[in-house]
Amino acid sequence: MSTKLPSRTGKAPGAWPLLGHAWQLHSRPLEFLSSLPAYGDLVRIGMGPWPAYVVCEPEAAHRMLTDSRTFDKGGPFFDKARVLFGSSLPMAGWQEHRWQRRQMQPAFQSDRIEKYAVVMGEEVDRMTTRWRPGLRLDVTDALTTLTLRIVTRSVLGAEAQDEAVAEVQQSLHTVIDGIYQRVMLPLGPLYRLPTAANRRYRRACDRLHHAIDGIIAARRAAPGGDDLVSMLLTATNDDTGAPMSDVDIRDQLMVMIGAGFETTANSLAFALWLLSQHPDVEARVHDEVDATLAGRTATTADLDGLIHTRRVINEVLRLYPAGWFFTRVTTTDTTLAGRQLPKGTALLYSAYLLQRRPELFPDPERFDPDRWDTRPAESLPRGTHVPFGGGNRKCIGDQFALIEMTLALATVCARWRLVPDPGSTMTVRVRGTLGPGPLTMTCQPRGKSAEG
Ligand code: HEM
Repeated sequence: MSTKLPSRTGKAPGAWPLLGHAWQLHSRPLEFLSSLPAYGDLVRIGMGPWPAYVVCEPEAAHRMLTDSRTFDKGGPFFDKARVLFGSSLPMAGWQEHRWQRRQMQPAFQSDRIEKYAVVMGEEVDRMTTRWRPGLRLDVTDALTTLTLRIVTRSVLGAEAQDEAVAEVQQSLHTVIDGIYQRVMLPLGPLYRLPTAANRRYRRACDRLHHAIDGIIAARRAAPGGDDLVSMLLTATNDDTGAPMSDVDIRDQLMVMIGAGFETTANSLAFALWLLSQHPDVEARVHDEVDATLAGRTATTADLDGLIHTRRVINEVLRLYPAGWFFTRVTTTDTTLAGRQLPKGTALLYSAYLLQRRPELFPDPERFDPDRWDTRPAESLPRGTHVPFGGGNRKCIGDQFALIEMTLALATVCARWRLVPDPGSTMTVRVRGTLGPGPLTMTCQPRGKSAEG
């Protein structure tokens, strides 16, 4: 005899004909998502003409994330991103994903990350030694340059030319914003009209392809190296034995860089802003980095001493998870949160929503790195703290990102204090990633090394 689970499903109010809730998701996505748990554990919304369920309950989110065969990548909005990123790792369906992930995982093992950490140190040095006392700069922009240089050099090889890095940097923003717009506001044929914005998007896609194709061609001509490019050039499909085509390799590289720079830059920018607003937390970070680094560049050997810095990062990822919204589709009839879902049902999950549930994070809006002191992430109920997702689709770059952000934040704080203009505020900018938008801050030196 089967026991029927209670279903707490609901429907979000305010759907528009044809657009469903696409406008709410586009114009005030965080408020809209945060309102949904009031309607149930699984809440039906309309993404344009397509229905989808938002998973608002952590255990259900965990089940969805860890059963990637039943809850696969896909769905009508996802297909739009596939147009640009092909069947690359984050886009691939369950079957394809398994062998791709196996082939690429070695690029993120700890011995490789030790090597990337050297690049991270070089790039943080490059940035912080260019700063001068009294310099006013857009911190988000500076950190985006930093993390893009780090991930591009790590993924394409440390010797990647500055021009290629600059080209990728210029085009990627336009491409990522364009994809976000197309996914969130599905206006179909309107995106094919020759408007200035559509032409800019198309041009940026072409330039990005061209820059990465150049790197692949150069490496084919002169094979070698032990970076991700070389790994992909020799990778073969487990089932068919076929190598990856140049287009497949380009998709993998683009998506890896695309996933690996704005996410970390935004999180670091949020961290610097939040420190500037919480002098007590900032003072503790300063004490820690002074004791651990005394002004020098942080390395992986320092990580164990940077406990408070790591808690700050963890709390930033809870409050403002850069990857705030992802989708799945059911590959078979199934049940989730007590509700029967037919094959082909689209689902959404949002770390932003899950990580602000007050019953799990008391006073959830408050920036409080100490909450990680009394309650380490591992002790939380499953599906509660998911800034990197979960299951076998969990972010492949999670350790890369955590180490990069800790080393960068510690080194910056060891040398500089970033001070916002009096009375300035921070507005969360929601695009493909969650970010703080432009943040003008002034560099104040800390200790001797910053002045030298
Ligand atoms: C703060 C930094 C980062 C955050 C918050 C973040 C977040 C995420 C999340 C939530 C997912 C899972 C998406 C889903 O469930 O559909 C993901 C997947 C992924 N991330 Fe990250 N990420 C970050 C940094 C990075 C970096 C640095 C890289 C690469 C260098 C990267 C590469 C990827 C890739 C390739 C996937 C797809 C993995 C797969 O499907 O097997 N990410 N990321």
